[in-house]
Amino acid sequence: MFIVGIETSCDDTAASIINEKKEVMASILSSQTSFHAKYGGIVPEIASRKHLELISHVCQEALQTSCLRWTDIDLICVTKGPGLVGSLLVGVEYAKALSLALNTPIKGVHHIEGHLLSPSLTQTITYPYMGLIVSGGHTEFVHVPKAGIYQIVGSTVDDACGESLDKFGKSIGIPYPAGPIIEQYAARGEDTKFSFPLPSVRHRPYDMSFSGLKTAVLHVLQKLSPNELENEIWSLCASYQRALFYHITTTAQKILASYPSTMVLLSGGVSANQTLFSMLQLSIDIPVLKPGKGLSTDNAAMIAWAGYLRYMAEGSDSLNFEVQSSLELESYAVE
Ligand code: KG4
Ligand code: ZN
Repeated sequence: MFIVGIETSCDDTAASIINEKKEVMASILSSQTSFHAKYGGIVPEIASRKHLELISHVCQEALQTSCLRWTDIDLICVTKGPGLVGSLLVGVEYAKALSLALNTPIKGVHHIEGHLLSPSLTQTITYPYMGLIVSGGHTEFVHVPKAGIYQIVGSTVDDACGESLDKFGKSIGIPYPAGPIIEQYAARGEDTKFSFPLPSVRHRPYDMSFSGLKTAVLHVLQKLSPNELENEIWSLCASYQRALFYHITTTAQKILASYPSTMVLLSGGVSANQTLFSMLQLSIDIPVLKPGKGLSTDNAAMIAWAGYLRYMAEGSDSLNFEVQSSLELESYAVE
């Protein structure tokens, strides 16, 4: 069975073809980062226009790379939310047109389900597991007792982890997306040089808060001259990253004490960060799995995989499903 995945929820136009044996035959991504960089973040209007320009090229390239024809495709999976509505619409309408023209079943996919399942695309997983999604828009712990049952047990109450890194980066002059650059800078700095208070959410031990760190950063920056900032940028990044990740690892410890799990599946853009992965591995005594190369940040292979599993359980969608900017992650199995 050949499955197409299409992902346009944010600023990357992506298409992938996988088969039911989890072989990724093509995973094509056209990044719009350079178009948005000068604005310091994603401009939704620009994102949807760029998706329109790129979508058919990216899909054709996926097809060519896998040496297939459209008529070989058995299932079309597309991100239906959450995300930017104008961006989601481009992918969903393109997928619907393909489905109609080829008479091929279609399945709308929850972006976060794609991230959550991305480590299982390249590795064998066991249940129950704890999913930890750390992306630009989400920071969530999801308890998965068996395939298709999702219970969100903790999440951020304000900024997402990636969003917090990007905002911190902006405040010290690092372009969007700042996460990967902060990781590189941090490797050259001292992570205890600056102290950033550990946030906590009152009476909600499984939830996280990252917005308080912004004020702490402001206080530190006010005391530094431009020269000092330049000299200290490595240690600032290392200290900020450590504070953020420490908050996540201590929350993981609390959650795992109440939700026994066989493993943690780390996913989302920030899961590409080696320091977070190492800190998690050191702080918990069960295996931590992260996505394979190129599967941490937004990609369409994870959408094809999540869509395929849901299609096998639920069947296909009718052509009138809609895109949704916010969307709850629903289970498809019963306990
Ligand atoms: O999952 P993703 O590609 O998009 C969303 O669904 O949000 O995540 C993007 C986020 C950005 O905030 C980016 O700064 C962060 O992931 N990111 C990283 C790294 N690579 C991407 N953060 C820390 N370290 C990295 N190596
Ligand atoms: Zn994402």
